[in-house]
Amino acid sequence: MNNHSHFLEFAIKIAKKAGSIQMKYFGNITSLQKKSTNIDLVTKADIESEKYIINQITKKYPNHSIVAEESGNIFNNSEYLWVIDPLDGTTNFTHNLPIFAVSIGLIKKNKSVICGVVYNPAADKCFYAEHSKGSFLNGKPIRCTINDKLSNSLLVTGFPYLHDKKYDISFKLFKEFYDKTRGMRRLGAASLDLCFVAMGRFDGYYEFSLKPWDICAGALIVNEAGGKVTDWYNSKLPFDGSTTLATNRLIHEKMIKVFKNKKYKLFF
Ligand code: IPD
Ligand code: CA
Ligand code: CA
Repeated sequence: MNNHSHFLEFAIKIAKKAGSIQMKYFGNITSLQKKSTNIDLVTKADIESEKYIINQITKKYPNHSIVAEESGNIFNNSEYLWVIDPLDGTTNFTHNLPIFAVSIGLIKKNKSVICGVVYNPAADKCFYAEHSKGSFLNGKPIRCTINDKLSNSLLVTGFPYLHDKKYDISFKLFKEFYDKTRGMRRLGAASLDLCFVAMGRFDGYYEFSLKPWDICAGALIVNEAGGKVTDWYNSKLPFDGSTTLATNRLIHEKMIKVFKNKKYKLFF
């Protein structure tokens, strides 16, 4: 079996340092810029965190490729691809809400995520996983819930920045799941939503129009905690995060059944 622990150790180290860069700005944000829409924000903390992470990776692994949210991609002829969200939950961050994280995942040979780390610096919570070795929070193993009933489930979701047709469908789905479960939450940081499924706070999480850096590390952390991550139709999770469903595995089919209802059909 491959041992990728050295990659994981490195990713944890740089995620923690990037988190300390975020904390330098947290509660202190004086300026921000807008990206795709008026509500899609970027701050100095996003930029500085990403710059630090990319510098560290290119120094240590100059041949590896990188996909990062703010500064684009570095494609080398390498079997390793780092996927980085330097600050997931920027809206929370700018409103002094401590639900934000650094997310770093590493993909090998264009297919499997071999390690991932999601660090929430405001709470000093470090979630991480290595393929086939389980998921951990601050050194302790974590597992998904063992509840198999939608009616006993607590779910989490998110809404995209773009208010298009999918946005309306998202609110209809929210209502249907709200009716069928114990409740729904919207926390505003996809990487942490995934980790909270992995640690058993939520039974399931879904969202559409995510990006590779939102889900790369968190999806591995859910899988390694005994959960399941696919698209909304039970196929392999797409790299681009166009539709994402992560559950404790036991309620997966039940949620898929809802997504397959023709009133929610988006793509076919
Ligand atoms: C966002 C958060 C949010 C999700 C958005 C993401 P950002 O990431 O993860 O929870 O609903 O779709 O874009 O912009 O804060 O890195
Ligand atoms: Ca993000
Ligand atoms: Ca981000």
